[in-house]
Amino acid sequence: MTTVIRRAAEWSKVAAWIRREDVVGLVPTMGALHEGHGALFDEARRHCSVVVASIFVNPIQFDQASDYDIYPRVLADDVAFCTARGIDYVFAPPNDEMYPEPQRVFVEIGELSEHLCGRTRPGHFRGVGTVVLKLFHLLQPHLAFFGEKDYQQLAIVRRIVRELNVPLRVVGVPTIRESDGLAMSSRNRRLSAAERLLAPRLYQALQTARQLIARGERNVVAIKGRAVQALRTTPEIRLEYFEMIDPESIQPVDLVNAPVRVAIAAWIGKTRLIDNLLCEPPALAHVFAKRQTKTVGPVSSWM
Ligand code: PAJ
Repeated sequence: MTTVIRRAAEWSKVAAWIRREDVVGLVPTMGALHEGHGALFDEARRHCSVVVASIFVNPIQFDQASDYDIYPRVLADDVAFCTARGIDYVFAPPNDEMYPEPQRVFVEIGELSEHLCGRTRPGHFRGVGTVVLKLFHLLQPHLAFFGEKDYQQLAIVRRIVRELNVPLRVVGVPTIRESDGLAMSSRNRRLSAAERLLAPRLYQALQTARQLIARGERNVVAIKGRAVQALRTTPEIRLEYFEMIDPESIQPVDLVNAPVRVAIAAWIGKTRLIDNLLCEPPALAHVFAKRQTKTVGPVSSWM
């Protein structure tokens, strides 16, 4: 059974004895859980003896109040999902637990948030970084799991942990997709039937870029031009960005002469979707194929 905890003080009581014996994994979420979150839970269970899922729709990361208001809140369903996936604890705090007073201190993200989603969603990553750091301090996990689906978020969380000396290990988990390639997302349920049919085109654009890069095309402008062609002729899809970024620094590259993350954001009707794909130029393909099969390694070696 999953135990639901609403207050950090309740967790502190449990954690005092759990942390001595167990490896504690945290999966931060905003709820409306789906198989993408499920993959994070499964990965967490593989590495940890106790897994906590946090469910909190974080007001300070929404740049638009309307988006925050309509974010799906289905706690009972989410707890059932967590129980089915063997999650030990759900931390579902009310707003006043996370923000008992107006938040005045934030994590400053700097240039890591200047591109991609950071450019069009001012303050978003500051809000994500701040809430994630608060969750890390409140719950004190040994490991924390984040999806590659939100690649910029994952890269930023890794930097926060590294540069602010947070004593935990971040584990990235590959993106889970629907059978037609659409990356799973809580936002997909906002799509109309017609919009849902168009949504896989984002992934198709990424795949076009991957093929071009694998064949040796290095010119970013040429790759982008070809990859987004089909989107430009679809008036229902409004492209926000299509960028090739260095996987580590998450800064845009001018030339693809090393592996890149190709990242896309687009609006379909009133829904904003994001996705990304690792793309590698031909000479490096074999090296990276090897690297991707590397496992995370035994937990004991991380502590
Ligand atoms: P949320 O959108 O609920 O996502 C929670 C975690 O699930 C994130 O790490 C996200 O990358 C991962 N995830 C979502 N869809 C996925 C998919 N299709 N495949 C793999 N992983 C996927 O991201 C947030 O919440 C918030 O910003 C949060 C980190 C909780 C801070 O508020």
